[in-house]
Amino acid sequence: MAKVILRNLNKTFVDQQSKKEVNAVKDLDLEIHDGEFMVLVGPSGCGKTTTMRMVAGLEEVTSGEILIGERVVNDVPPRDRNIAMVFQNYALYPHMSVYDNMAFGLRLRMLPPIWEQLANPGKTKEIKASIDAKIQAAAKKLDITDYLDRKPKALSGGQRQRVALGRAIVREPEVFLMDEPLSNLDAKLRVQTRFELINLHRELKVTTIYVTHDQVEAMTMGQRIAVMNNGLLQQCDTPQNIYRHPANMFVAGFIGMPPMNFVKGATVQMEGARPVIHCGGFSVTLSAERTNVLAAYVGKEVVFGVRPEHLNDKSLVSGTPENVIRAQVEVIEQMGATSNLYISLGGHALVSVVDASTIAKENAPLDIVIDAEHCHVFDKDTEKAIF
Ligand SMILES: Nc1ncnc2c1ncn2[C@@H]1O[C@H](COP(=O)(O)OP(=O)(O)OP(=O)(O)O)[C@@H](O)[C@H]1O
Ligand SMILES: [Mg+2]
Repeated sequence: MAKVILRNLNKTFVDQQSKKEVNAVKDLDLEIHDGEFMVLVGPSGCGKTTTMRMVAGLEEVTSGEILIGERVVNDVPPRDRNIAMVFQNYALYPHMSVYDNMAFGLRLRMLPPIWEQLANPGKTKEIKASIDAKIQAAAKKLDITDYLDRKPKALSGGQRQRVALGRAIVREPEVFLMDEPLSNLDAKLRVQTRFELINLHRELKVTTIYVTHDQVEAMTMGQRIAVMNNGLLQQCDTPQNIYRHPANMFVAGFIGMPPMNFVKGATVQMEGARPVIHCGGFSVTLSAERTNVLAAYVGKEVVFGVRPEHLNDKSLVSGTPENVIRAQVEVIEQMGATSNLYISLGGHALVSVVDASTIAKENAPLDIVIDAEHCHVFDKDTEKAIF
C-alpha cells in the first residue's frame, strides 16, 4: 500500500477551437493516507476526472507534483505506477471470457516472451498456476466464480462491474482509482455494490481514490471527503466534520439533502449578552458562546444558514424551546419516515424536514423551532463560514 500526495497540482487545457485556456485543476494540495478510502466529490466539470487521470499518468500535469509512496511519479509511465483503475464504462474486452479479461493484464506482466515459455515449460506452468490462483481468489471474493467462462455481454451491469473490479484486484495494486464506477447501475444495485466496495476495502486495505458527484455516495463511503468546485479544493475532512462544519457556502449547500437553507441580507446585533441574527421577517437568538466569533460582524450583513433537519415542528419538540416562529406550510412531501415541509418563514421560502408524525397541514400555519445550536453564519463577501 502507499500514500498518495498531490502537491500544488495544476492542469490547464487549451481549448482547440477558441484557443482559450481552461484551468481544470488549480493549486490542488491533497494527501491521501496509506490505506485510506478518499472520496473526491463535486459537480460536473469541477476537475475530478482530470485529477484522477493525472494520478493515473494518463494526463500530463501542467505544474506541481504527484507522489505515490515516497516516489515522485510525474515522469513515470502509467504501467509503472502500480495503480489499478475502475472507470464508469468498465471497458471489458467483449471477445474475451470473464476469466481472460481478468487474466489479460497479469499474463502480459508475468509471463516471459513466448520463446522463453517454450524453452522452459515447467516455469511457465508455475506462473500460469499462480495467475489462476489470483483469479480464483478474486472471483470468490466478488462472487463471480460461476461466470468465469462467460463473455461480458452475457452478464448484467452489476456483474460486469464486479468483473472490472476483479480485473483491478488481481493486479494487487498499491492504489485503486475509481471514477464513478457505480453510475451505470440502477439505484438498488448501486446501494448494494457501494456496500460491497466498502467491505472489499476493509479487507484489502488498498489506498483508494473514489470519484463521484453523488453526495450520498461520498458521505456513506468516504473515510474522508475532498469537495471540489471549479477546479479548486473547497474542503477535505471526515463526512461528519464536513456535514457539521462546512468551510463555506458551497460545501454547506452541496453536502446534505435537501440542501441547507440560506437567508441572505441577514444582520448581526447584540441583545443583552447574546447575539441575534435578524433575517428580515424572523430573528434567531444564538448562545452567548457565539459572541466573540461574531464580534467583528455586529451591525454588518451576513448570510444565515440552517439545515432542513434543524427546523422542527414545535409539536414534536419537548420542553419550552427558544426561537419558535410561526411559519406558513405551503407544500408537504411525504418521504416515508420523514416529511419535507416547504414553508414560508418571515417571507423566506425554506425547507424543513420533520418526523412523519408532524401535525403540519398544507396551506396552514405551523410553529417552527429553529435549532440555534446547529445554525451557521457565513461572511457575505468571502462566503466562508464564520461558524
Ligand atoms: N481534453 C480536454 N480539453 C479541454 N478541456 C478539457 C479536457 N478535459 C477536460 N476539460 C475541461 O476540464 C474541466 C474539468 O473536467 P473533468 O472531466 O475533470 O470534470 P469532472 O469533475 O470529472 O466532471 P464530471 O462529473 O462531469 O465527470 C471541464 O471544464 C472540462 O470541460
Ligand atoms: Mg468525470
